Amino acid sequence: MNESSKSALEQAQEEGKYIRKVRSFVKREGRLTKGQAAALEKCWPSMGLEHTQGLLDLTEVFGNSNDVVLEIGFGMGKSLVEMAKNNPEQNFIGIEVHRPGVGACLMDADEQGITNLRVFEHDAVEILADCIADGSLAKLQLFFPDPWHKKRHHKRRIVQLEFAEKIRQKLKIGGVFHMATDWENYAEHMLEVMSAAPGYKNQSQNNDYVPRPDFRPLTKFEQRGHRLGHGVWDLMFERIS
Ligand SMILES: C[S@@+](CC[C@H](N)C(=O)[O-])C[C@H]1O[C@@H](n2cnc3c(N)ncnc32)[C@H](O)[C@@H]1O
Repeated sequence: MNESSKSALEQAQEEGKYIRKVRSFVKREGRLTKGQAAALEKCWPSMGLEHTQGLLDLTEVFGNSNDVVLEIGFGMGKSLVEMAKNNPEQNFIGIEVHRPGVGACLMDADEQGITNLRVFEHDAVEILADCIADGSLAKLQLFFPDPWHKKRHHKRRIVQLEFAEKIRQKLKIGGVFHMATDWENYAEHMLEVMSAAPGYKNQSQNNDYVPRPDFRPLTKFEQRGHRLGHGVWDLMFERIS
């Protein structure tokens, strides 16, 4: 690092800006299908949210003050769209970095006439820091995050103590952080991190995992996992302070 970039880094740190050193994703430049491209063009003006908008007024975004559920890393958006459809009395925000996934989600939402869903195409860590007000979310969902299998990559796992604290700030008191994974070692990691994170209560009676809730839609990905004999672990932690 040269002197000028070093001092820029130090200055940003002094100003309390976030400095991301490790990201939880690798951006893949997948091609958009025609349908995804058309959905992005048609639906982005009404359903897309931009990082550059800064802190959101959620009542203004949705035109009502219903509870807001935020999902990080929605993939192709299957379960997010289904949940938005099944819960019209709640508002949903999805964040995903993979553009074809965002296109697929919008295409699906448009086909189903969903109006209570908005999406970001951006890094969720930056969106949480810059666009979501503290104490504003009823629920935060993180379903099947990239497991980063190799030990040397574990630092890339999105669930870390600092992340848990950031999520806690964004949840209302009584709000829930719901995680699911099919990778046992990541489930153990999530449990360890979340049990150590202050201000949360595990909703599991045994202080470990909760039964799979019916309201979490079964995706193709999870169905395939079941066929292959994989386990799935759900964790739900409530913000208590
Ligand atoms: C293994 S996939 C799971 C997708 C979906 N939740 C599902 O269950 O099918 C993880 C997704 O998280 C996204 N992702 C990882 N880190 C992210 C971040 N910091 N911000 C937004 N999306 C992220 C990836 O692009 C990927 O699509």
